[in-house]
Amino acid sequence: MTFPKIDWNGILFRLLQGEHGRRAVAEEAKNAAIPGQAAQAVIDSTLRSLDGPSPILIGTTDTSKTLSVDSSTLVASGLVVGATGAGKSRFLIGLVLQLIERLSDLSRPDGSGVEIELVDPKYETYDLLRLALAALWLRTDAWKRDELASRIRVIDWTRDWITPSAPFARIGSDVSDAFLARLRADVIVQASPQSYTDAMRHGYFMLGRLLIEKQFPLNLRFTTKLFRDEPFRKRIAQGLADPDVREYFLDLDRNLPRQTSEALLRRMQEDLAFPEIRYSEGIPPSVLRKLLPRAAPSIVLGNYGSRMSLPPSKAIERANHRIVDVLLKAPRRNPHRPGLLLLEESPVLLSRSSELVDPLTTATRTLRSVGMGIVHVAQDFSNALPADLVRALVLNARWTAMFRAREDAELIYPHVLWLEEPLRAMPESARRRAFAKTMEGLPQRRFYFHAKGFPALPATSLTVRDFARSSGVSSEDELREIFNREIASRWVVPSSLAARLIAEWEAEVVDRAEVPPSAPPGGGKRNSHRTLADLLKDLGRDTERAE
Ligand SMILES: Nc1ncnc2c1ncn2[C@@H]1O[C@H](COP(=O)(O)OP(=O)(O)OP(=O)(O)O)[C@@H](O)[C@H]1O
Ligand SMILES: [Mg+2]
Repeated sequence: MTFPKIDWNGILFRLLQGEHGRRAVAEEAKNAAIPGQAAQAVIDSTLRSLDGPSPILIGTTDTSKTLSVDSSTLVASGLVVGATGAGKSRFLIGLVLQLIERLSDLSRPDGSGVEIELVDPKYETYDLLRLALAALWLRTDAWKRDELASRIRVIDWTRDWITPSAPFARIGSDVSDAFLARLRADVIVQASPQSYTDAMRHGYFMLGRLLIEKQFPLNLRFTTKLFRDEPFRKRIAQGLADPDVREYFLDLDRNLPRQTSEALLRRMQEDLAFPEIRYSEGIPPSVLRKLLPRAAPSIVLGNYGSRMSLPPSKAIERANHRIVDVLLKAPRRNPHRPGLLLLEESPVLLSRSSELVDPLTTATRTLRSVGMGIVHVAQDFSNALPADLVRALVLNARWTAMFRAREDAELIYPHVLWLEEPLRAMPESARRRAFAKTMEGLPQRRFYFHAKGFPALPATSLTVRDFARSSGVSSEDELREIFNREIASRWVVPSSLAARLIAEWEAEVVDRAEVPPSAPPGGGKRNSHRTLADLLKDLGRDTERAE
């Protein structure tokens, strides 16, 4: 058999040139029948190019070489795809641990050089990272442990303690009350399995504007009295600075028919029937500010697994509120400090929140300008999400780690290098089928790593150790206990304390109708952003201009 004549020197040369050259090489490598030695040269050169000034180890190649990728690539957006049990979460843990190890420096006053936010609707990855961080805490010198613990924030809740959150607290001065209220109402309505009419959604939106202006928590007794007790409502409404909201509540009977407000109250009652929700969202923002640490942590671990105690929709709602927080705060983050938002089971989160889909996908470039990347982890992108969304995610991803997969494997096919003789000789269609079969049967931990502009390389993920054994404790439960005691405890509030704080607020505002004056907005001019994508786009432009 004869090989077409290929200018390997030229290819290797271009491989080392920018994106354009690399694309061309990937293209040629794909189509060409590559002599074994030259193919190895392409692999080696790819490995060298992926490596960089700040390499992060993510796996080993088939020839036992290390697969290291520069952190600037990895903290841009990526996709981790593969069937259940294929090794996605372990890969993610390995990546996070490497990033923390490589980029964090406890001796530096500004803390870690990387920010990680995990949103896990499934609990397992949260739990693994919790074990890993407890193990890290144990390995850290005693005098540095407090410093380490203060850099980790935990979002979790059980029956006995909760991480408080305040969806109706203001987020900076560049986010208007109306904009924030709309996002919150959208998240609540879309996550809910119950149906909301337009009128109910609008009622929630207006209530949200009131809560944000007054800096009140979500509270059933307050809302019930607001809707049903006219003198009380007048008292509250007259103190409102926003004329739209004031007029709306002064004339509530006309603006929100009784039937609608009652239906809204019923839904709220169901939501707040769960103590975890009532306690975590019920503490007034002003009290929370005094209760929680002020320091901005570099690692935020969020467990949004509903486990047995919450309906999944409430857990997803909370996860989506958190994603809103992260996106709204993104423009004010330090763009020189890389940040990664890790979305485990991304389709589960996205399919319930159309308002977030756009900024999470198409505005990825803008997020990049503020130094932030998003990693989507999914068992099955192609079937779980609409085709145009999948396309947007793929277009915006700088890298993909493809584990055992069926349909999704197609995403990586065009970038694979054909090294084995029988495959190289096959016609395209047969090769495609053979590849699909290989990908369906890929062993655990095996994956193809594809960074845009480079050929995809097969590799095996790093071994994620048994954290209990390697840190010399008797069980994982012991590590969990250490984590909860030394790290999570800073961010959680016992349910009994939450209940007391909420009762105190109710006694003051609901029972005695002592209404504090409206909190002034954070100063500065109000913006005109009406969507999240708007806001991010605008802020992105500012950053780009500043560059
Ligand atoms: N890097 C690794 N190191 C050690 N064990 C691994 C690794 N990757 C996978 N495994 C083994 O495979 C199992 C499944 O891995 P993992 O939980 O990462 O899969 P997954 O793709 O996240 O699955 P799911 O879709 O169900 O969440 C693990 O419980 C572990 O036993
Ligand atoms: Mg997993």
